[in-house]
Amino acid sequence: MNEIVRKERYSEQVFMMAISTPLVARKAQAGQFIIIRGTETGERIPLTIADFDRERGELEIVVQEIGKSTKVLGTMEPGQSILDVTGPLGIPTHIGKVGTVCCVGGGVGIAAVHPVARALKEAGNRVVSIIGARNRSLLFWEDKMRAASDELVVTTDDGSYAAKGFVTDRLKELIEPRATSREPRAGESGSSELEARSSKLDLVFAVGPTVMMRAVAETTRPHGIKTVVSLNPIMVDGTGMCGGCRVLVGGKPRFACVHGPDFDAHEVDFANLMARQRQYLDKERAALDAL
Ligand code: NAD
Ligand code: FES
Repeated sequence: MNEIVRKERYSEQVFMMAISTPLVARKAQAGQFIIIRGTETGERIPLTIADFDRERGELEIVVQEIGKSTKVLGTMEPGQSILDVTGPLGIPTHIGKVGTVCCVGGGVGIAAVHPVARALKEAGNRVVSIIGARNRSLLFWEDKMRAASDELVVTTDDGSYAAKGFVTDRLKELIEPRATSREPRAGESGSSELEARSSKLDLVFAVGPTVMMRAVAETTRPHGIKTVVSLNPIMVDGTGMCGGCRVLVGGKPRFACVHGPDFDAHEVDFANLMARQRQYLDKERAALDAL
C-alpha cells in the first residue's frame, strides 16, 4: 500500500513522487490535496495533488525539501512505501465554463496549478497559463503545462530562460497590453502575440509562494478580475479540528483544509497568512539542524 512507483528529481530541492494509492486516486479532483506521513517519526505534510491517474490508481506530488520531514521524504525511493496517505482533502476547485482563464503557477506552485489548468481547459475554457521560476534549472513541467493550456508563457526571475521577470510582470502585460513589441525568446510565445490575445480575462487562478499570490491579487484587483488562490497555511489534521490552518478571508476566520484551499484572492488577509506561516520557523530550523 502507498508504494512509491516513480520518482524524478527536478532540482537539488524539488522532486516528483508517484504513489500507488488507488482509493485516494479514484476520488481525486483538481485543487485537492493529501496529507502524507513518510515514516513513523515524520510530520504530517500537506501536498497539493499535482496529477492523478484514476485507472492506474496513482497520484503525483511535487515536493520541495524545506524541512526535516520533506528531507526524509526525499530519501525515499521507488519500491518503498509511504506510511500513510490521507485524502483527497479540501474542496475541489470550482471548474465552470467562464471564458478566458489565466492560470498562474510560481515555483513549486506550477505542480499545483497543473490539474486545475487541465480541468478548466477540458471544461471548454480558453486557458492562458503563466509559469515562472527563479532560474532555468528550477523550472519543471513546461511540457505538461503546455499540454494543459491553450497558450503558455514562461518566465524566469533572472532571464536565464524565456521572459525575464516575475509571473506578475507577464500577467500585467496580459491585462494591460504594452504599446511596444519585441522579438520572442526561447520558451515564450512572443510579446506581440501576447498583446494580440489580451482579451478580457474572466478568471485568474494562482498558486505559488504567498508573496506571489498577494502580488497576483494586487495586479487583478484594480481591474475587477475574479481571482482565486490556493492557500497553503500550516496544517496538522486536515479535517477542521486543530485550527492550525486558520486564515482570514473577508475578515472572517476560515480553515483552509475544509473551507478551502481555494479562496477569493481579493478577500484574503495575506499579511496574517505570512505571519502564521513564519510562526514555527525557529523550531523548523532546529529540527533540520538536528537531522
Ligand atoms: P519562488 O520563490 O522560487 O518563486 C516562484 C515564482 O513566483 C518566481 O519565479 C516569480 O515568478 C514568482 N514570485 C516570487 N516572488 C514574487 C513577488 N514578490 N511578486 C511576484 N511574483 C513573485 O517559489 P518557490 O521557492 O518554488 O516557492 C514555493 C512556495 O509555493 C512555497 O512557499 C510553497 O509553500 C508554495 N506552494 C503552495 C502551494 C499551494 O497549494 N498553495 C503548492 C505548492 C507550493
Ligand atoms: Fe487542522 Fe485545518 S489543518 S483545522
